[in-house]
Amino acid sequence: MSKGDGTVTLAESGTKNAVELPVMSGTVGPRVIDIQKLYGDMGVFTYDPGFAATASCQSRITYIDGEEGVLLHRGYPIEQLAEESDFTEVSYLLLNGELPTAAEKMQFQNDVARHTMVHEQLTTFYRGFRRDAHPMAVMVGVVGALSAFYHDSTDINDPHQRTVASFRMIAKMPTIAAMAYKYSLGQPFIYPQNHLNYAENFLNMMFSVPCEPYRINPVLAKAMDRIFILHADHEQNASTSTVRLAGSSGANPFACIAAGIACLWGPAHGGANEAVLKMLEEIGTVDRVPEYIKRAKDKNDPFRLMGFGHRVYKNYDPRAKVMQRTCHEVLDDLGLHDEPLLKLAMKLERIALEDEYFIEKKLYPNVDFYSGIILRAMGFPSSMFTVLFAVARTVGWIAQWNEMIADPQQRIGRPRQLYLGPTRRDYVPIGTRG
Ligand code: SDX
Repeated sequence: MSKGDGTVTLAESGTKNAVELPVMSGTVGPRVIDIQKLYGDMGVFTYDPGFAATASCQSRITYIDGEEGVLLHRGYPIEQLAEESDFTEVSYLLLNGELPTAAEKMQFQNDVARHTMVHEQLTTFYRGFRRDAHPMAVMVGVVGALSAFYHDSTDINDPHQRTVASFRMIAKMPTIAAMAYKYSLGQPFIYPQNHLNYAENFLNMMFSVPCEPYRINPVLAKAMDRIFILHADHEQNASTSTVRLAGSSGANPFACIAAGIACLWGPAHGGANEAVLKMLEEIGTVDRVPEYIKRAKDKNDPFRLMGFGHRVYKNYDPRAKVMQRTCHEVLDDLGLHDEPLLKLAMKLERIALEDEYFIEKKLYPNVDFYSGIILRAMGFPSSMFTVLFAVARTVGWIAQWNEMIADPQQRIGRPRQLYLGPTRRDYVPIGTRG
């Protein structure tokens, strides 16, 4: 529980206008100034475009220390979870706050497995899309359509329905994602196999075909599972805030997750992994790296080093380090240790990290910098990279959505503005306009 930690006094210079505001502290991290009574007492709003210094909620799920490059899920460091745990266990942790016992984990795995199939009629939605539609467009459409199929789990005020909707979303995202990929190929949809774990099931639905056996590579399955862990949740990022804002109006969970998918698609957010690969392919060779570093620093050039920089991390993104290590493991296993794109990415990273501009602006590789190289080596087209991010992030969105609904302070999100438009003026009939 947050606790009072004194007050701050806000005084407007040259006036008697002043207000005393409570300060609250959490278990770790920056304290917050509670400004809820600021407008009532002082008649002013705060102004924070992009919400860089604004806490939108209280949460117990994920903590990030951007200066130190720390990421904790319910207190457990991401490095330890990536190394020791698996995605099913991390999903349970995010949703319930504690690591499961063996029995709890088995029950959770079974609960999720029972929802992996989609309504058979949902398959007709795919036929409405062009085969070359971007799979993220398909994800937004099909996930949004789930609320047209599962009327028995859209009442957000019923805890049982919230639980069922949570299991449905976590379980069906891999199935829907794999179906989007199969549809793009013109191949038949592959049904989930509930004896497989989450990552194995996804790989099987993505890459197996009905006419021959498919052998799941354990190294790739482990890498897939770890990639899901690394993308599972990340505090109040743009897409999670979108899910919370949509949920604050009472929208059903399927619609909220569809909104989160739409937000994640942007290249400044989850779309960066696809953009990194496009950037590396455009750079092409190591000798062209200085030219692109120069462009990234040029204020007049819209080019940015994709996979670099972060709103919160002003140090190495801890997920990027795990991702880089996984990249080497996967490429070595596949005999691709000479993968030119990996060598190019490592050279680009080394040059950038030694460049004054990147050092001064504290720009480091983020989670997206290496993920695309691994995913391409695993056989995923770049158009599927952000889809995988959405599959993994669904458990984080659901955990945050449930936390928001259970929060006694929760109310509809409705930011204000600093208005710069015209003041009141009268209508001018068209015949008398200039
Ligand atoms: C994700 O929020 C999350 O937690 C997101 C995420 C998650 O798990 O949910 O971690 C996932 O979205 C990771 C970020 C993926 N995006 C990219 O890799 C795209 C490239 N990065 C940038 O677009 C940018 O760094 C952002 C969007 C990630 C962060 O932008 P901010 O916080 O608004 O910072 P900024 O754009 O104000 O940049 C600060 C300065 C600027 O220079 P000045 O105007 O101060 O002179 O740094 C520069 C920027 O021009 N800068 C870059 C840069 N990123 C920032 N310059 C060159 N290349 C870059 N990549």
